[in-house]
Amino acid sequence: MHTLNHEEFLALRAGAEVIESDHHGEKVLRLTDGRFLKLFRRKRLISSAALYPYAQRFVDNARALALREIPIPDVLEGRRIPSIKRDAVLYWPLEGNSLRELAQRGLDPETEKRLKRLFTDFVIQLHSVGIFFRSLHLGNVILTPGGKLGLIDFSNMCIYSRPLPTFMCHRNIRQMQKEPSERDWVDSEAIIESSLNNPAAPNSPGSLAYQSFLLELVLQRLQEAGIFRGRYLPRA
Ligand SMILES: Nc1ncnc2c1ncn2[C@@H]1O[C@H](COP(=O)(O)OP(=O)(O)O)[C@@H](O)[C@H]1O
Ligand SMILES: [Mg+2]
Repeated sequence: MHTLNHEEFLALRAGAEVIESDHHGEKVLRLTDGRFLKLFRRKRLISSAALYPYAQRFVDNARALALREIPIPDVLEGRRIPSIKRDAVLYWPLEGNSLRELAQRGLDPETEKRLKRLFTDFVIQLHSVGIFFRSLHLGNVILTPGGKLGLIDFSNMCIYSRPLPTFMCHRNIRQMQKEPSERDWVDSEAIIESSLNNPAAPNSPGSLAYQSFLLELVLQRLQEAGIFRGRYLPRA
């Protein structure tokens, strides 16, 4: 990742609109040319984020998602900004609205039903191409003008070379159900049934596919811990 000095950072952010912030400061900026700058805090000096920065994970995951034809922002590059102790990614936003925005704005029952179906199919698609996205909630799913669903905010993701086994789908559903107001968007039965019926899902312990999946899972953990970078993994 290239480093920006403080003058370069100030020039880049001049006139930017703050889209999202929290008590630590600014999180997402819209630059005057329309690009987004998403900032990641460097938490501790010795941490997995220092060894494998979130901005770099974002860039790597974008490449892997694009290969799987999931709509995502056009991710340009990662940046280090030592003067504000942040890393950043620069991207063109994915056009559309998050499902959370749409749900909060209020939907007529028919549209809501169709969007829930679309969301369920999307989750099934993600699982079937080996994507385990811990922050898979309505705020990170965008309905594009073309009527497809896409993802944002995907630094926190594991990508496998085969469909997720059913136990991982269960795990992902539990994470999705954490937001009480969005629980009825998650059709867990349909998601689990689809996984059980997917012949490529590594569901039999002892099978070669299952063993390979577990190996990938361990490698992903090591990668997240910054022990090594993705050569062995099916990213890109
Ligand atoms: N690529 C994008 N396209 C459209 N909107 C985006 C995009 N990235 C971020 N946003 C908007 O920015 C806000 C925060 O984005 P996100 O990356 O999910 O950050 P976080 O969840 O960490 O605050 C949301 O309001 C979201 O709608
Ligand atoms: Mg988000």
